[in-house]
Amino acid sequence: MSAQPQSAAKPPVTAPRLFEMKAAGEKIVMLTAYDAGFAAQCEAAGVDTVLVGDSLGNVVQGRESTLPVTLDDMVYHTAAVKRGLATPLLIADLPFMTYRDVDTALRSSARLVAEGGAAMVKLEGADYVLEVIDALDRRQIPVCAHLGLTPQSVHKFGGYRVQGKTKSAAERLIADAHAVEQAGASLLVLECVPAALAKTITAELRIPTIGIGAGVDCDGQVLVIYDMLGITPGKRPKFSKDFLAGSGSVLDAIKAYAKAVRSRAFPAPEHSF
Ligand code: KIV
Repeated sequence: MSAQPQSAAKPPVTAPRLFEMKAAGEKIVMLTAYDAGFAAQCEAAGVDTVLVGDSLGNVVQGRESTLPVTLDDMVYHTAAVKRGLATPLLIADLPFMTYRDVDTALRSSARLVAEGGAAMVKLEGADYVLEVIDALDRRQIPVCAHLGLTPQSVHKFGGYRVQGKTKSAAERLIADAHAVEQAGASLLVLECVPAALAKTITAELRIPTIGIGAGVDCDGQVLVIYDMLGITPGKRPKFSKDFLAGSGSVLDAIKAYAKAVRSRAFPAPEHSF
């Protein structure tokens, strides 16, 4: 049995295409995947972009955080996902400490692109990361930034908490969002921030925003596939929804998610902060 896509009926989704989608008000559907089989389901369901998240540390490897995920892990899973995809834009996470300086980030990203087949790399934070984003962008590697609840900062945050709740934290997040755009990011994931704040950031930025626990007004949405299929053990995060419940198959569940994102039915207020 093969997980290879049979045909590519649609042109591949590219970073410039995501800008066009924002300009046209078309919602961007992103989902995580970690292997060729689930990637092929994303392909068949018409997902726009697939993220090989370092969340694989939690949902695939059963770890408590994303911190132990290695670059080798990410290259392995990105290459597997690539074999199941033809159309969606493939984004891969740079794991903890693999972008701690410009040289390390360039080497790490080159592996995700050349060995893994990623078309964009994702990294967390602003501050010193701005220099890294600029260096990658100048070397023609598109970058997805990630602000708000950045799981690689779990020890600094003291847990997984909604970010940007106070006036000063919200102002800082808005400033960071402008800074990552200015540095050259092509896309911005906003995780667990108040919906009103994500709406403001989305309206102010030229680059598309992708929300997870950030309300319906982001330019697109992302979920961890194990969460939206109800596989993740324990309590499902507030911002997620089990799309397999009520669907006949994994494919139908992903199609239902894509439809709900495109029609703005998901996330509902109960999935937002
Ligand atoms: O690692 C991941 O899957 C992510 C998404 C939750 C945005 O960063």
